[in-house]
Amino acid sequence: MAVPRLRRLRRHLIRQYGRDHALLVACDAPHFGSSVFVVDHRVAGRQFRSLASLGRHGRTYDQSSMDIGRPAYLVFPYESFMAAAFGLASSRRSALLLGLGGGAMCRHLAALLPGCALTIVEIDPVVVGLTRRYFGVAQRVVVADADGFMARNRRKYDVVLIDLYDGRGFADVAAGFWRNCIASLAPGGCLAVNWADFARHRHLERYAAELASFGFPPVFLAPPSLADNLVQLVPTGPGTAESDVRALAKDFCREIGANSEVLNDCLVSRDYPRVAAAGW
Ligand SMILES: C[S@@+](CC[C@H](N)C(=O)[O-])C[C@H]1O[C@@H](n2cnc3c(N)ncnc32)[C@H](O)[C@@H]1O
Repeated sequence: MAVPRLRRLRRHLIRQYGRDHALLVACDAPHFGSSVFVVDHRVAGRQFRSLASLGRHGRTYDQSSMDIGRPAYLVFPYESFMAAAFGLASSRRSALLLGLGGGAMCRHLAALLPGCALTIVEIDPVVVGLTRRYFGVAQRVVVADADGFMARNRRKYDVVLIDLYDGRGFADVAAGFWRNCIASLAPGGCLAVNWADFARHRHLERYAAELASFGFPPVFLAPPSLADNLVQLVPTGPGTAESDVRALAKDFCREIGANSEVLNDCLVSRDYPRVAAAGW
């Protein structure tokens, strides 16, 4: 990376992580549409490693984060909301992960749910290389555009997790993408999709509505503040009452030994949450 860009990046890193951080690598990721970097930093005395990107307007986005002392555990609340899909699925033998990032979800599942066969799809070979080198991911990764992969896919999965972001925001998916995702679910399977920073990106609600239009009522999970990420779960098994979702998700955490604290007070709703104004 050129020196002036590196200097600018350092300023952003100090703003995001404070002075007590170490930049391990920064590079351009062609498919990602921005620079990506790996940085070690501290939060409340714990050491974290993050895969981050510099978005438009110079904002730093953590794409994935790993607690170095506990690499198998999820760091971001939204990841636990996505993992709730395993609690709502009738079987947990196979899962499709669209979007590798720093591999938080695949580390988590490989360690705590080892009997589940993972298929991982990631568009950017640079991200795959960084994740192998810095985030301890050794699993096979299919390097492909998730959109094309889903158009060709004929396999069925018990759980499908969709977390597709790059330097521009949510991936630009084609018209048939959501139908293909639903079609890839085994009977009784469950899908989860991450809507990042949803209050600021109003167009995501259109995708959410399309995903809700295939006859399977969705359930939304969000932090109580409604800030940051919203997760849409689409269970396709026999009707799950809204009031049971939290308990099923917590049972799953208990079963595999995962943290379930963020599920205690999160919002559980059948409706896409309305936030009065962006920038609450
Ligand atoms: C937020 S990160 C995923 C984090 C991941 N869930 C984890 O557990 O660490 C988003 C990832 O989606 C990937 N991505 C974006 N668009 C994609 C596409 N069209 N097909 C496949 N991967 C894509 C990005 O390169 C990035 O690695």
